[in-house]
Parts: sequence; structure tokens; C-alpha cells
Amino acid sequence: MNKYADELRKTAKAMVAPGKGILAMDESNGTCNKRLASVGAEQTEEKRRQYRELIITTPELGDSISGAILYDETIRQSTADGQLFREALQQKGMIPGIKVDTGAKDLAGHPNEKVTEGLDGLRDRIAEYYQMGARFAKWRAVITIGDGIPSRACIEANAHALARYAALCQEGGLVPIVEPEVMMDGDHTIERCYEVTSETLRTVFDQLATQGVEFDQMILKPNMVLPGKGCSQQASVDQVADMTMRCLMNNVPAAVTGVAFLSGGQDEQSASAHLNAMNVKYGDMIPWEVTFSYARAIQGPALDNWQGKQSNVEKSQALLAHRAKCNSAAHKGEYSP
Ligand code: 13P
Repeated sequence: MNKYADELRKTAKAMVAPGKGILAMDESNGTCNKRLASVGAEQTEEKRRQYRELIITTPELGDSISGAILYDETIRQSTADGQLFREALQQKGMIPGIKVDTGAKDLAGHPNEKVTEGLDGLRDRIAEYYQMGARFAKWRAVITIGDGIPSRACIEANAHALARYAALCQEGGLVPIVEPEVMMDGDHTIERCYEVTSETLRTVFDQLATQGVEFDQMILKPNMVLPGKGCSQQASVDQVADMTMRCLMNNVPAAVTGVAFLSGGQDEQSASAHLNAMNVKYGDMIPWEVTFSYARAIQGPALDNWQGKQSNVEKSQALLAHRAKCNSAAHKGEYSP
């Protein structure tokens, strides 16, 4: 038996504890720079550090947030007065986590499709992150819907990599967040998203089982079932909740500790309303906790307000805390817009 099994179960439960969810702040330097540029802030290591300090030092964040996903640069950084970010999180009752994939790269022979890389040297990186205090990890696979895609090759390659990552994490004491993201980009219908999400989840759990991953020591981070952004037929909150829950109930084993959704480009209010509706309508009949692991849908308003200026920090922190609270309420089925 894995010597970390009990610890992994405990960590996984804490990550999705009632009223709590995960804050994704693991943007790679490239993505973080893009976000900074979008609000007119400088794109430097120091600005990225300041932005992450704003997030981590938000008062009372630990009331709604169980853990934060960091990036390799961030897990080594400190606040202006010298406290390591990872220790600041722990002090406020939040578990530090770490993104360990190295990004989605073009899949050979399959135009417009990606496969996520990062397995090389992963065992050693996990050992280092565990030593630094990280207790969970994240790996994101990207599945795009389009003309003739996704292919089986894309779904299988990504599912296989996710499963090998998850097995390595459990071996090294980190709870794997398994994130197969079916993207919202495109003009596909919600039914098409349902089909692709079903096939993806079935393939991912088949591969996880093949690699010996323990379902009660992991968190699934799926997309919600939504129409493409460009689809003329958009969906109601109830329809998204119903189709997402039907898709998960059909494809996610009961032993999985928790489901923590990504926001995927939904606006902040929709991301909260959808999560809330799932908990209100299905909370009593589902075997896993259903919560959030949002980046954009928590950070958005805070980033827009900050613009890279020290004088905007306090207001930005209030905006961040507000979205975190809204999503905490949605986990309990108590959100009102
Ligand atoms: P979004 O909530 O912005 O989709 O980000 C979640 C995430 O961690 C993507 O990997």
C-alpha cells in the first residue's frame, strides 16, 4: 500500500470541504504576462510577484479557499516583507498546490489538437515540491471541439498522460487534480459538448484505473457542459446544471473525493450560478463534493481594478474576497447573485 494513502485521503477531503474551494493562481509566466498586459501593467517578474502577493494576502481568504494552485516561479517567491508565499498560505489555513505540467503542445499528425507535456523528470520535481510543503498538484489537458475533432488520438494521448501524472503524484504524496478541459471555444451545441465531455471522462477514468490511481485520493477538475461561446443557442442555468450533473453521474466513479470545476471563460456570475444550481438540485444525490477551482472567475474583477497600482490593492482584495465568498456559498447551494 502507498505510504501516503491516509494523508492523501485527508488532503483530498480538506480541498473540497463544505463551503470551501480551490483558487487557481498557477498561470504560467506567459499567461500571467498576458493578463498583466490586458490591464496595462508591466510584464516583469516583480509585477507578477506583486500581483500574487495581492491575492495571497487578501484578508479572510482562508474562510472560502481550501488551497491555492501555485506555479514554479510563485512557489519560490515571498511577500515584500520576506514571508514565502507557501508559508503565508499555510498560516492562513490554505494548502499550497503546484501546477506540474509544462504546457499543451501541438499533437503530431493532428492539426489543431494539443497534448500536454511534462512527464520527464516529474518524479524528482514532485519530491522537491512535497519537500517545499505542496500537498497537491495540477495537470491540465486541453480538448478542442471543431470540425472532425477531437480525435481518438488526442483524447487517448491526453488521458494516458493524465493517468501517468496522477500515479506519480500519489506515489510522491501529492493529491492529483486531474483536469481534462473540453474548451468552450467554437460554435458547437451543448449536446456536442456533452458527448465530447462524456467520451473524455470515460477515457480518462479507464486510463486512471489502468495506471492504478486511487479514486478516493484525487480530485477531478472538469469543464461544465456548456454550448460553445459562438453557438447561437445559449443555455439556461438549469440546463447547464442538469446536463453537467447527468454527464458526471454517468461517467465519474463514486469513490472520487471531489469535483472542482474550472471556469473556462464563463463570466463570474454564471460560474457561481451554475455551481450553485448543481448543489441545490443534486446535492443530496451525488457521491462527491461539487465545488470550484476557478482562476478567471475569481481573479477577474480584482485584476481589472488593480491595473498594477499599489493604491488599488485594497479594493482589489475586497473584490477577490467577494468572488471567493460567492463561490463558497455556491458550494453550499446558498448563492444569490
Ligand atoms: P479558469 O477557471 O480560468 O478556467 O482556470 C482554471 C484553471 O486552473 C485552468 O487550468
